[in-house]
Amino acid sequence: MIKSSAEYKKKLALLTKYDQFYYDYSEPKISDYEYDKLKNELLKFEEINKEFNFVKSKVGYAPSVKFSKVKHSEKMLSLDNAFDIEDVKNFIKKIRNYLSLRNNDELLELIAEPKIDGISASLIYQKGNLTKGLSRGDGEFGEDITENLLTIQEIPKKINIKNFPEIFEVRGEVYISKKDFEKIKDQFANPRNAAAGSLRQKDSKNTSKIPLKFFAYSTILKNQENFQCQSDFLNFLKKCNFKINELSKVINNINDLENYYNHLEKIRSSLNYDIDGIVYKINDFNLQKRLGNLSNSPRWAIAHKFSAEKAYSIIKDIEIQVGRTGALTPVAKIEPVTVGGVVVSNATLHNEDEIKKKDIRINDTVKIQRAGDVIPQVVEVDLSKRKDNSKPYIFPLKCPCGNDTIKEFNVITKKYDSVRRCPDISYDCPYIAKEKLKHFISKDAINIDGLGKKVIDHFWDLNFIKYPSDIYNLNYDKIKILDGWGDLSVNNLKKAVDKSRDITLEKFVFSLGIRHIGQENAKIISSYFKSINTFFKLFDKTYLNNELTNLKEIDGIGDTQIKALENFFKNKKNKNIVSLLMKELRIKNFEIITQGIFANKTLMFTGGFEKMSRSESKSVTEAQGGKVLGSISKKLDYLVVGNSKPTKSKIEKAKELKIEIINENKWYELLNR
Ligand code: IVH
Repeated sequence: MIKSSAEYKKKLALLTKYDQFYYDYSEPKISDYEYDKLKNELLKFEEINKEFNFVKSKVGYAPSVKFSKVKHSEKMLSLDNAFDIEDVKNFIKKIRNYLSLRNNDELLELIAEPKIDGISASLIYQKGNLTKGLSRGDGEFGEDITENLLTIQEIPKKINIKNFPEIFEVRGEVYISKKDFEKIKDQFANPRNAAAGSLRQKDSKNTSKIPLKFFAYSTILKNQENFQCQSDFLNFLKKCNFKINELSKVINNINDLENYYNHLEKIRSSLNYDIDGIVYKINDFNLQKRLGNLSNSPRWAIAHKFSAEKAYSIIKDIEIQVGRTGALTPVAKIEPVTVGGVVVSNATLHNEDEIKKKDIRINDTVKIQRAGDVIPQVVEVDLSKRKDNSKPYIFPLKCPCGNDTIKEFNVITKKYDSVRRCPDISYDCPYIAKEKLKHFISKDAINIDGLGKKVIDHFWDLNFIKYPSDIYNLNYDKIKILDGWGDLSVNNLKKAVDKSRDITLEKFVFSLGIRHIGQENAKIISSYFKSINTFFKLFDKTYLNNELTNLKEIDGIGDTQIKALENFFKNKKNKNIVSLLMKELRIKNFEIITQGIFANKTLMFTGGFEKMSRSESKSVTEAQGGKVLGSISKKLDYLVVGNSKPTKSKIEKAKELKIEIINENKWYELLNR
């Protein structure tokens, strides 16, 4: 909640900046979900503090400097939103009141139309010829995008109909089909952004490169005079060769309205275009006229939005992904559907047991959920949509690499894991090997700027890399000529790769991706072995057996870690891989820093940090002699809580143990004392 006008102004400036990026450069800076959240916060503040009304009175965004500004013959309005059926009932109630329709039985005809998630445009025909086309702009003034609109095949350029009005204005939605979006999906977050980007190209030749389509759905008051109602008007548009949305339907009662909404919500993913809700309009033009408009939206229409977190889709296939630890994760490949501004085409099914429990099958209609940055999940199956010939999904018993899979027995829970795994512990399974490379280059491991997961995939497919040491022997001449690479990016990569050659022992141990050896354990192991040479000796059988007994005694190392270390170091191929890698790196001996600002202090970090990342904050603390713990214990001196999403249970526990809780700023103050 915004608490002061200063905060309001700060957030308003942010919104304006996001608008500019979105509208002028077609380059959204935040997700639709975050944008709506920010906007709602501002609107709430304006609701209480009436002297502020910037957001409330704003429709869209002022026209871009790229196109000339033209005043709309009639303001291009926005729509008020309904988020549930109660909001819709309220909308109808208000209309009945406004029109003094006291008798509940009196019919109020509505037309329900899919709300196309595109960009609105206004087309002006003079004597049947398309002479001008405008974007919405700020609602009052649009941008002259005639040339760009002329490239859209579905927009009639000439209308040959007897008695066609001298001047006729058609408004509708420019959009891109999901099929066409597939081809350019890497460049845009969702189809709407792609359509906006294409439509706002300065050079119409670029617009024609991305195929756009158009649904017509409205006009200006003056042109409405020849029609009784919206449904008649839509039929006329069809006669004029416009594309209208064939799913539009005249509806007479709230039950049918609800059914229509539910039906469209379910078939939404199978449509070849994105819709983000349903628009309900009063069908009768006379009533529309009587109802009139509020400042930004008509009283006679409302948009019933689909959820920004949940949607229905159809499972086209179930793919098995193999993780770094060999875990086989089933992933549902679904018909793409835009949820909260993000196109979702994959949803995790977790594991074999989860599929069995929910009886999830290929071709099922499922409800999916996407919340925040979490991977979308399949929540439930809509059994009413299941076909008679559907068969249960049989989970593969083999890894895609051909290995038989296993389910591990958990000694603590005394149960078999629900996760099926490929048992490979070296680099033989190519699926595991590729994931191990991704772990190797990750931020907390070797950390190579400019070498992310996507690049690993690409280099892997080209056979440039197989083992971690290959990263230090890349053929840069071959990379230079790849799409998306050039002298500059290759140079930067080279520099980053070289920089990563200097590494601490603990990061090195962590980067190997030994099962059950996370950052904490890597640190414990490094502090025990001190140098890479002693650590490497573990590949010697007798030494290994001896040391495993010793390691068992160390706090933090349990049976699981001992077994994992044994498996790793028993393997000849791993020895080879590690020794090749060691030749490329300069691995620093483990050093305990006992002096510094945090000497003798024990800290723990939770949540996201702003001044630097959480990992960097930890490293800085350790470089200053502090000890960083991974779990709350009495030994802790400070729990440092970051601003974004700290773990509540950790804070609670710290309070219980009376541990001092400080925020990031306080920690930073201590650091700079
Ligand atoms: S009628 C006076 N009908 O939704 C209101 N709008 O969020 C005129 N939209 O600005 C709009 N599908 O860009 C209408 N079937 C439909 C629509 C539709 C998509 C867009 C339109 C509008 C926005 C409001």
